[in-house]
Amino acid sequence: MHRHEAIYTHPDQLTDEYKEQLWKFLSIQICIEGGMGDAKGIPPHNAMTAHEFPETRHRRFIANKLADERDHAYGLFQVAKGIGKDPHALLAAVREDPEKTRALDAMKELERIGTHLEFEVLCLLGEAAGGIASLGMVGGTYLPWSMWNARNFLDEGLTHSLLSMRQCREAVDAGDGEIAQAHYDHHYPFWLDAFGAANTPNEEAYLRLGIKTLTNTECRVIWLRQMRDRTEKAGLKFPEDPYQGKRGRYDECEEGLEGNWGAFSDQVITDGQIYGQGVLARGV
Ligand SMILES: [Fe+2]
Ligand SMILES: [Fe+2]
Repeated sequence: MHRHEAIYTHPDQLTDEYKEQLWKFLSIQICIEGGMGDAKGIPPHNAMTAHEFPETRHRRFIANKLADERDHAYGLFQVAKGIGKDPHALLAAVREDPEKTRALDAMKELERIGTHLEFEVLCLLGEAAGGIASLGMVGGTYLPWSMWNARNFLDEGLTHSLLSMRQCREAVDAGDGEIAQAHYDHHYPFWLDAFGAANTPNEEAYLRLGIKTLTNTECRVIWLRQMRDRTEKAGLKFPEDPYQGKRGRYDECEEGLEGNWGAFSDQVITDGQIYGQGVLARGV
């Protein structure tokens, strides 16, 4: 974990470099969540609403989740506007030309899926990944951004992903294990990639400035450990080779997944348990 002494509470305290690096990150997140927070509060192009949600309880869950996602989008808009960026212009450009999106490959798959079960499998993997990516920014140097991530971690990392885990388990118990596993095997490598490559120039800048507090590898290891546990609880099979993504291999995570990764392993999350005190103690 990376520690910083500085703490900024207002965008005027940020350097131009800080704002540009933060915008790089924000613009990805806005392309992922931004469609859920248009002026009317309606998620217009969101594939989530197009699926079949068989029972009232499923529809309750999706309504709650969409309400959370919309709040995430508004929060992102506020942070972006605070640093002088226009999230609506970005989203308008993406709607005009979808090629301009900064969304992750894994999220692009969301547009393609068509069943409730596949949606839940994607969320088992993806909500956890989103939550852990946020965990990797809690305790950063810019308090509004750190606060947004703290909320996002609780929603995605604990609530949304765990509910989807239970929905998957239900489907497996009802006899849909094979199809659920096929969905899982399809989506898994996209989400393994989602944390970004190790030791990139972007990562170096995010860590140096305190936009992030955990490395991409640290985040990926937390996700791997968490997914190994949750996949079993969902009644599914964790990959025999868990380090192969669509974009690359991540063998550097083996030590963290299989061994005891020193002090860092104390911070690894298992279900319902938040992280080591160090993360929360850092500036929040
Ligand atoms: Fe979200
Ligand atoms: Fe979510």
